[in-house]
Amino acid sequence: MATKLQITDTILRDAHQSQAATRMRVEDMLPACEILDSIGYWSLECWGGATFDSCMRFLNEDPWDRLRKLKAALPKTKLQMLLRGQNILGYKHYADDVVEQFCRKSIENGIDVIRIFDALNDTRNMEAAMKYTKKYGGICEAAISYTESPVHNIEYFLKLAKELEQMGADVICIKDMANLLLPYDAYTLVKKLKETVSLPIHLHTHNTTGTGDMTNLMACQAGVDIVDCALSPLANGTAQPATEALVATLKGTERDTGLDLGKLTDAAAYFRGVAKKLKDSGDLDPKVLNVDSNTLLYQVPGGMLSNLLSQLKQANAEDRYYEVLEEVPRVRKDFGYPPLVTPTSQIVGSQAVLNVLAGERYKMVTKESKGLLRGEYGRLPGEVNEEVRKKAIGDDEIISCRPADLISPELDGYKEEIKDRMKQEEDVLSYALFPQVATKFFDTRDKAPEEADDSVRTLYVEDVSM
Ligand code: CO
Repeated sequence: MATKLQITDTILRDAHQSQAATRMRVEDMLPACEILDSIGYWSLECWGGATFDSCMRFLNEDPWDRLRKLKAALPKTKLQMLLRGQNILGYKHYADDVVEQFCRKSIENGIDVIRIFDALNDTRNMEAAMKYTKKYGGICEAAISYTESPVHNIEYFLKLAKELEQMGADVICIKDMANLLLPYDAYTLVKKLKETVSLPIHLHTHNTTGTGDMTNLMACQAGVDIVDCALSPLANGTAQPATEALVATLKGTERDTGLDLGKLTDAAAYFRGVAKKLKDSGDLDPKVLNVDSNTLLYQVPGGMLSNLLSQLKQANAEDRYYEVLEEVPRVRKDFGYPPLVTPTSQIVGSQAVLNVLAGERYKMVTKESKGLLRGEYGRLPGEVNEEVRKKAIGDDEIISCRPADLISPELDGYKEEIKDRMKQEEDVLSYALFPQVATKFFDTRDKAPEEADDSVRTLYVEDVSM
């Protein structure tokens, strides 16, 4: 059975999203593309996740244009993106026609592999994205959001993987966004998954808790097909374990990746310069590299810990931090053990803060907590505490159907709203996902040179006159 381990490199997406607030620009990516394309990765993760929003909001870049440039510069390597099921890349459920158009345009513009996940592991929130990925010729990688709880046992994950296989997945991903999956558990999970489904298994973890390299290695021993790594300049800490370290470790073994360490080193040398630039501009804070043992103890993702702390700071109540940390698992239990990933990590975290600060649990309930308890985000994995639900939403009706069945087609409405601003068909999708950010981005983009501000005009005139 021993075959080479395949690698997806996340240097162009998750690595800088996790370490540098998603601030890498396409012009910092393009000079490395030739060498990246020659390495022989299974895929390069380079789009989706937070990159789409960040492109328009902070970098004044068109995300679609970035994708087309990357595709042209990386003709040999599969390009991969991350998509949050019915949320696409936003924070609410969209109608199926928007999901369809988004999958279609992503693939048409250059994406090969779409990794699809749902925060609650509700497969009904994944089915449209999976169906349309396949319809337009993409590789459908369906992800299990990994978490730990009394309901998230091995049987739960095997059943979920089987269901995703039946729904048409081409690859199953174990998405361990918080680096909770410990090395020996990874071994067992991968081994059992390999016995249960006949699809390639792709592991995605981080190195937040310092266990990422060991988790990848144990998964490799158990027969995992593909793992995510990042080139060393932006690897480790909150990002993925380093590519070079795993490639060197497996050299000469039966799972040798076959990748050339020399080429990886050349690519890394280039990205060291990019990482330095990100550090100098303050976008990369070296503290992301610290091992976070609080996550091991409380099983709360690293990003959530810093969110909780900043919420408490705003309320002048930093001294309640440990009370809140103890309240988080209680709220999670009351809510039926949702995995702590965007957006449920924010919902559970904010509710835990309110429960502690209000002096009475669920005296104040956020709009998002109510939505979660009403089933607006999908089916909760475990049993909900009915007393808590009653206190939060009274006799409100609970949604038991697929949430997107309640949303009528939206695409034509978005097109109508934005028709005067459209320069390309894809603009309607940018607008649908991030209306304010996209409108502001279009304003800057569409400014003709003669309408641009004075300094720009002066420069323009001087240029012509010389
Ligand atoms: Co990740």
